[in-house]
Amino acid sequence: MDIDWDALKAHAIEAMNTAYAPYSNFPVGAAAVVDDGRIVTGCNVENASYGVGLCAECGLVSELARTGGGKLVAFSCVDGNGNTLMPCGRCRQLLFEHAAPGMVLDTVSGKKLITEVLPDAFGPNDLKGN
Ligand code: THU
Repeated sequence: MDIDWDALKAHAIEAMNTAYAPYSNFPVGAAAVVDDGRIVTGCNVENASYGVGLCAECGLVSELARTGGGKLVAFSCVDGNGNTLMPCGRCRQLLFEHAAPGMVLDTVSGKKLITEVLPDAFGPNDLKGN
């Protein structure tokens, strides 16, 4: 699938502008292309109980399931300045679960495969046969 990375980043910025981040003042937006061509997005939503705050990717995967499921083929994440942001470790795991084979992320060091940013990932296959 041909990915319009600029358009995807624009979706991430739009999502970032809806973030609820009064504690960190670090709004984050994420956007991804699904294998059926639709776009899903998410923003971080913090909480007075700091540790239960939700990363932008949490909202994104929730929207993925809620709007019909499928697999993620391309991903972009931005900070409050609209600069590309690496998904945190926990969120790489979240994304891995829903990644299409060959899923690509726009990262601070260029386009990377999900398997490059989460090598030797633990995933659904590891639960088989146990
Ligand atoms: N954050 C995300 O939303 N996604 C990431 O991948 C990195 C961190 C959020 C969590 C918190 O609301 C804020 O950024 C500062 O850590």
